[in-house]
Order: sequence, then structure tokens, then C-alpha cells
Amino acid sequence: MKSPVVIAIDGTSASGKSTNAKLVARALGFIYVDTGAMYRTLAWHCLQKRVDVQDPKAVAAACRKWKTSLRCVDNQVRLHTDGYFPEKEIRTGEVSAAVPHVAAVPKVREWMKKTQRECIRFGNLVMEGRDIGTNVFPETDFKYYLDARLEERSRRRAAEGVRENLAARDQRDSQRAVAPLMIALGAHVINNSEMTAEQTSSAIIADLRQRLAASK
Ligand code: DC
Repeated sequence: MKSPVVIAIDGTSASGKSTNAKLVARALGFIYVDTGAMYRTLAWHCLQKRVDVQDPKAVAAACRKWKTSLRCVDNQVRLHTDGYFPEKEIRTGEVSAAVPHVAAVPKVREWMKKTQRECIRFGNLVMEGRDIGTNVFPETDFKYYLDARLEERSRRRAAEGVRENLAARDQRDSQRAVAPLMIALGAHVINNSEMTAEQTSSAIIADLRQRLAASK
């Protein structure tokens, strides 16, 4: 049996990864995986348990003891924590501020890589994040890297009602010691500053259809 296909969509914050990954997954009938949500769920769990997120040892210990399970609902993978999926809770400002600390802990990244690779048991995946093409599924032939001008990304965040220092976030994501944000070798880079989500996802889908047909 052929192994499942993984499409890796990485890129900077507010470059349209989530919107486009969902559109691509829907068009191809693949399963969507939001890996940022997994890091956010651990950050939320640490805040709930009063674990100091600035203490890497404490975060690594919390991760080690963490009770989780993966589910696939409506073609999307969910990471449940103690049997609960904190969909809304992980989108607060408090969690957004805590998550970069959690995501910089090497033991956490090891755990995430292992867990994210397990998602393959659900079938063909569109997985979005920062290190999918470089670290989680480096073997995949289908890698995309999305980016847009900083002003455009800040405008998009503001339109969602979120004020965020994206330049600082880019710096933290690209400069952390383990699995920093970078363009994977062979990734198809799309700067979508002047493109709508429909145009971006159509470009990805057209490219994928061609490459998937060629790889059969
Ligand atoms: O995409 P997001 O804003 O939900 O990501 C939340 C945080 O997790 C952000 O600080 C980057 C980090 N992250 C990561 O380091 N690696 C991933 N594969 C996904 C997210």
C-alpha cells in the first residue's frame, strides 16, 4: 500500500497558512493539521497547571506528564488534553504570549514532532506550521513556504482584531535554537502580499495536482 501524502505548509505569522491549508485540504479531500494549535494547547495546559512557562525544565516536565490523545473530527486533527479540546481557550492573548516560550523548549519540540508524525494514521495530510518541511516531515516532496510583507501581515492581523508585534514574533520564530522557522530545501515559496487567499490556494492546488499526477 502507498504511504499517505503529506503536504507541508510553513511560513511567517499571518502569511495565510491556516486559511490556505484548510482550502487546500478541502479541495483535495485531505486532513488538515494545525500544529500551532498543538503548541498553544500545551501553553494553555501549563497556564492552567500554574507551570512557569519561562522555566524550560518545568515546561519539559509538564510535557512529559501530559495526558493527550489525537482525534480526527470533520477531516481536522484535534489534540485533546485530559479528554478536552480547548478550541477557544487557546486563542487568548495570554496563550499567545506564553506559546513562544513553550515552543522553544527542545523536549517539547521532540514530543511535538513525534505526535505530529503520528497524525499520518488518519490519512493524507495538509499540515501547517513553522518546521513541517524542515523538521517534522523533511522527507515529503510537497513543501510550501508562505510569506507576505510585514505591513500586509500586520494589516491582516489588525483586520482580525488582533494587535501583535509580528516583527518580534518573526524574530523569535526564526532565531530559536531548535527547529527555527526557515525555508525548507525544495520548498515552493509564495509571497502572497498582493494575492487573495483564493489566488494563493488556487496556485498551490494547481501546482500540487500537477505534481501529484506526475508522482503516480
Ligand atoms: O501558528 P500559531 O500562531 O498558532 O503558532 C503558535 C506558536 O507556535 C508560535 O509561537 C509559533 C509556534 N509554532 C512552532 O514553533 N512550530 C510549529 N510547527 C507551529 C507553531
